[in-house]
Amino acid sequence: MERLHINANRKKSKINKEIYGHFSEHLGRCIYEGIYVGENSPIPNTNGIRNDVVEALKRIKVPVLRWPGGCFADEYHWRDGIGPKETRKRMINTHWGGVVEDNSFGTHEFMELCRQLECEPYITGNLGSGTVEEMQSWVEYMTFDGVSPMAELRKQNGREEPWHLKYFGIGNESWGCGGNMRPEYYADLYRRYQTYVRNYGNNKIYKVACGPAGDDYNWTEVLMKLAGKFMDALALHHYTLPNDSWEHKGSATEFNEKDWYRTLRKTLYMDELVTRHSWVMDKYDPDKKVGLIVDEWGTWYDVEPGTNPGFLYQQNTMRDALVAGINLNIFNKHSERVVMANIAQTVNVLQAVILTEGTNMILTPTYHVFDLYKEHQDAELLESSLTTDLVGIEEEAVPCLHESVSMDKDGRIHITICNLSLSESRTIRAEIAGKAIKSVTGRVLTGEMNAYNTFDNPEKVKPVEFKNYKLLEDGLEFTVPACSVMALTVE
Ligand code: AHR
Repeated sequence: MERLHINANRKKSKINKEIYGHFSEHLGRCIYEGIYVGENSPIPNTNGIRNDVVEALKRIKVPVLRWPGGCFADEYHWRDGIGPKETRKRMINTHWGGVVEDNSFGTHEFMELCRQLECEPYITGNLGSGTVEEMQSWVEYMTFDGVSPMAELRKQNGREEPWHLKYFGIGNESWGCGGNMRPEYYADLYRRYQTYVRNYGNNKIYKVACGPAGDDYNWTEVLMKLAGKFMDALALHHYTLPNDSWEHKGSATEFNEKDWYRTLRKTLYMDELVTRHSWVMDKYDPDKKVGLIVDEWGTWYDVEPGTNPGFLYQQNTMRDALVAGINLNIFNKHSERVVMANIAQTVNVLQAVILTEGTNMILTPTYHVFDLYKEHQDAELLESSLTTDLVGIEEEAVPCLHESVSMDKDGRIHITICNLSLSESRTIRAEIAGKAIKSVTGRVLTGEMNAYNTFDNPEKVKPVEFKNYKLLEDGLEFTVPACSVMALTVE
């Protein structure tokens, strides 16, 4: 029997709802087809945006959406995506798949998407190949509320009022596709570009600097030292690849038990990354004024056979559900420093929550984890600890159980637990100090390790109600099935 201790009197940090954020790039079929189909599409839409996708994303309460990239952001020139659609530039998306980008989805369409989703926009500006003037005028175009050439242009394009824009990234992966810079050089450029990212009227921009790739602690060190006082947050990127090779990352659906445990072991590494980058940040920012944002995370496999290698289309199994559950638990537990995270990417790309095919749409196991975990949004992280043993194969051993716990504003406790074992269930005795339990509700997502939803069988993997618990005097007892993600609410 495992023991879960929860201290309802010990609230540790607020779990910003933005930790449950998403990322959508002009890449493959994410924006075009997946989200935007145009006003004349037979697919039901509102102002060109798919109704089915918006409804599904609203159900999981997407709090913030990052756009237009990714690598695309540092090649994107925002003026190409405004004005009458017939006159917008057509070009080749050289970075992703060599397809025609007709710029029919631009700033106005993205802001309309965020309006429909009722989420915060998070825009990444072009520092790699764009000018300071270009970045400055984009922010002016979107947020200036007085008389100015950019505000005038916005009005000519049909938008009278400025938009509210909080999150703005200054370059993407500037150590790689965003310019191959050294941290010292980027830190100086960051200082320069951010100077002209202005606050107009009541709009206050939260400035996000490009952070490290994985374990590049030196990047964090240099950025914090040279530019820390000019930023609100630093953005880390880290993907989970089953294999270490980018040429042979591994299949999304065809994998064995060893691959399962190796993937989960590699995703658990996010904890070390966040911990060690936080230590570096603590040195320069002990009051934790600068946030750590993980604005690209998720699994990255070989593309589905027969699909464009530049489209990064992959299926999504129970393994992805566990990856999502583990990472979200990690972000919750580090919410004193991690203020936002954005899974890559919302629809049809990498660890997508939604896949589309023409008029059809399916929800992936990862979607269901976001649904199970949504109660953590804006709740307070509670002190918790869980005993557990190691499971897995030889060098791929992982802890069997992984949890996080929060309390919402109405005093309800939310427990999310992943069972990483493929073969063994675990019975847990949970003791909750500081809370009398009246009732418990729960849902669990479980299945074969490589079970996934298809357009022919869209509900093979979906959560079911969980009632199999016993109330005790000071807590509860329940059994978590093998290969599962569970969410319990204690009232
Ligand atoms: O998400 C796909 C790509 O991964 C992004 O464009 C880039 O930022 C990262 O390398």
